[in-house]
Amino acid sequence: MSIESLKALFRPELEQLSAYRVPPAPPEVRLDANESPFPLPPEARARIAAALHTAEMHRYPDGRATRLRQALARGLGGSPEEYVLGAGSDELIASLATAMSRPRAGANRPVVLIPEPTFVMYRLTSQVHGWEPLGVPLDEDWDLDADAMAQAMERTRPNLAYYAIPNNPTGNCFSRGIVEALVDAFPDTLHVIDEAYGAYSGQSFATFAEERPHCALMGTLSKVGFAGIRVGWVRIHEALSVELDKVRQPFNLNRASQIIATLALTDLAPLLEDQITTVVTERERLARELGTHEAFHCYPSAANFLLVRYGGDVPALCEALLERDIAIRQFSSGDLRLRSCVRITIGTPEENGRFIQALRDILG
Ligand SMILES: Cc1ncc(COP(=O)(O)O)c(C=O)c1O
Repeated sequence: MSIESLKALFRPELEQLSAYRVPPAPPEVRLDANESPFPLPPEARARIAAALHTAEMHRYPDGRATRLRQALARGLGGSPEEYVLGAGSDELIASLATAMSRPRAGANRPVVLIPEPTFVMYRLTSQVHGWEPLGVPLDEDWDLDADAMAQAMERTRPNLAYYAIPNNPTGNCFSRGIVEALVDAFPDTLHVIDEAYGAYSGQSFATFAEERPHCALMGTLSKVGFAGIRVGWVRIHEALSVELDKVRQPFNLNRASQIIATLALTDLAPLLEDQITTVVTERERLARELGTHEAFHCYPSAANFLLVRYGGDVPALCEALLERDIAIRQFSSGDLRLRSCVRITIGTPEENGRFIQALRDILG
């Protein structure tokens, strides 16, 4: 059998796609990945080291991650049974695509509704699972287009709809009234509200979602200092969490991640608050600074990054910053409106200072 005939067995959707890659040698100042810029405080490191010291690494981890789900329920509400955990929320986006993939009667493929531009994994993951992603453009303020969303819902009856609030890469929170009206008008779709950046926005849909079995909340530790441990969750009605759990790999969350995440949500939580506050203060400082350059238009952000429209040559600006060992994010595919934009993750005060100085040098 030739390699070509084996390749022919791969899903046809894969031909059009490229694997998600990050640069092998990241620059010193990384303002491109929406992580927290801060290492953990020494006290937090000591607590983690002590907890890992006695961990039974020779045993499989708790496949149900019982303690972690209990910590989530205590911290964020609901019962532990409502939480399904993944190696990052990326894994849960894939689990939802695997588990909820029965097409509607009369349709060939299941549909997922995605207001765009948004987090690319909603589209990518649905494609590799054979779904039909239906993108609905956000309006000129990057808010949901209520009419277009409702029409798309009516026309296609999607199995799933995603709303990242705050949205990546635009940084804003969608109008609460529009989100709530859509969720209430279309109860036979699972509406997933992804609060990956919720710690920086100071708002949540938890109370709203609690009363609606067709509304799920997604969260992650990746944006608040723990991108390295890969822990995310979806809080979903118990009757649905049982189904979702069936497609989860039995030991998808390793023992170290479970221990660290449980600490992050309990004893370490107060230690991380300062870092979050600093990021929010720095976000406003950076927005003010960018506002002093005529070439930039900074969109309002409730996340740990800023989306900025640049009147000049975007690739040249990013290149000049890279020469100074600073990475920011540019957009070469997807929504055309983003081609003239860059996304800047908020760094430490020192990193932001270095970025501001680099901009002054480059732009004069
Ligand atoms: C809106 C949104 N959701 C989820 C994720 C992924 O989170 P995780 O690291 O938990 O897979 C990201 C990462 O950038 C994101 O922007």
